[in-house]
Order: sequence, then C-alpha cells, then structure tokens
Amino acid sequence: MTEPLVALRGIHKAFGGVHAVEDVSVYLHPGEVVALLGHNGAGKSTLMKMLAGAYPIDSGEILIRGEKAHIRSPADAQELGIETIYQTLALADNLDAVANLFLGRELLTPWRTLDDLRMDAEARKVFARLNKNFKNVRVPVRRLSGGQRQTVAISRALYFNARILIMDEPCAALGPEETRMVGELIKQLKAEGVGIFLISHDMPDVFGLSDRLAVMKNGKLVGTYRTADVDEDEVLGMIILGKRPEGKEQVERADG
Ligand SMILES: Nc1ncnc2c1ncn2[C@@H]1O[C@H](COP(=O)(O)OP(=O)(O)O)[C@@H](O)[C@H]1O
Ligand SMILES: [Mg+2]
Repeated sequence: MTEPLVALRGIHKAFGGVHAVEDVSVYLHPGEVVALLGHNGAGKSTLMKMLAGAYPIDSGEILIRGEKAHIRSPADAQELGIETIYQTLALADNLDAVANLFLGRELLTPWRTLDDLRMDAEARKVFARLNKNFKNVRVPVRRLSGGQRQTVAISRALYFNARILIMDEPCAALGPEETRMVGELIKQLKAEGVGIFLISHDMPDVFGLSDRLAVMKNGKLVGTYRTADVDEDEVLGMIILGKRPEGKEQVERADG
C-alpha cells in the first residue's frame, strides 16, 4: 500500500464572496492519473493553483508523501516536485526550445556564465526521450507545431524531475495527431511513477487516460470514482446535475 503522493484534505478557497473551492478532498498516488472534471467555474483550476503555489489555501491541508506541506509560492511547489503545464502553453515565443526548457532555471558554468553547451546537450536528450522526430530545437518556438510546443512544456516538467504533474487542458489547442502524442506522453510519465492531475473536458481523453475521476460542481466535490466503474452518462450526470451514480462505490485510489 503506497502512501498518497498528494493528499488534499478539506481545502477551502474564497475570492471575496465567491466560494471557489469548498471542503474538497482529493488524493493522488504514484503512477496514477486522476481526471478533474466539472463545468467552467466549478473550481478545478483554483484547486490546482493552490497545489502549484499560485494561491494560498484559506483552510484545509496539503500533504505531500504523507508530510504536511506549506506551499506559499510556485518555487515551494517546484521544490516538492510539483510542475504545472497550462492550457495556454506558457512558452516564450521568440526563444528556441532549448532556452524555453531552462527559462528561469539556466545551467551555469563554474564562472557563473550560461553553460550553453551543456544546456543544448541536456535539452536534446530530454526532447529525444519524448519525441524522437523533434530536431528543430534551435528555432523560435513560435515556428513549432502545437505538439512540439507541448513537448517543450512537458520536457520542462520532466527535466526538473516532476513527480507530481498538473495538466490543465493540455490538449485544448491541439489537433488529433498531437492530442494522441500527449496521450502517449502521459502514459509514459505514468509508467515512470509520476502522478498526474488531468483537467480535461474531453471524454475520450478522460476515459482513455485516467485511473480515477473526481467531479466538481460549484466549488464542491460531487464524488471520486474509478474511471472503469462509471460510464459517460453517469459522469455527465455528475457534471451537469451534481448527481452521484447509483450503486457505485467512491474510491480514494485506483486499485483500492
Ligand atoms: N483570481 C480570481 N479572483 C476572483 N475569482 C476567481 C479567481 N479565480 C477563480 N475565480 C472564481 O472561482 C470560481 C472557480 O473558478 P475556476 O477555478 O477557474 O473554475 P474551473 O477551472 O473549474 O473552470 C469561479 O466562480 C471563478 O469566477
Ligand atoms: Mg479552469
């Protein structure tokens, strides 16, 4: 029985009078993909932004590998192995893929100058691990395809040893072939023991990639189920009506 990588327990967050997240508890285990579902405004991104250090929690607790975490900034989250890949692919368009990989975390020589040679070599290694056909790593990323840009974004997480990955609509801007590639990357990371929170509106992605799914509505958790235990109609019933499927057991982990 492995300890959860992440335990979000009784998390609350309000913005003024708006209860964006109300008493939500969700767990994530190593090598597990948990899909977070819900309408726009359900509170999914806010919940994940608290884990990523973008907002402080109002109350509740976050445990990482069983230990209480005090995440006050994105740097705190990164130190705990938490990386986020946003829908908008936060890349610097005018820089190349190598520079984007190391943006803000550049490798330096012993003389404190940029170690371009080492960054180039390291970057090529990590890109090749994800996408063998990705060679044009020294042109501005604005000239790359959506799938190649997503490779760069995911490489940032990989290179810096993400153990916990938050993907907020990772395929929203991608075509079918690129979406398939991101799916392959997710399976690969899973096999390496990375835990992934996947926010997605795409039912085939959710059913194809997640082990469990957690549905939120109006800031509250409707329920958490093994993906294999529920069908699309039941999931839509939770998202739209906040109705839990009858006779189905809620679970905290994929195999338990
Ligand atoms: N920075 C913010 N300031 C004020 N209200 C916010 C902020 N971020 C989110 N909200 C509100 O919190 C609620 C949940 O939003 P969000 O987490 O973005 O939902 P989702 O990602 O599920 O679409 C919404 O009512 C939204 O308007
Ligand atoms: Mg959102």
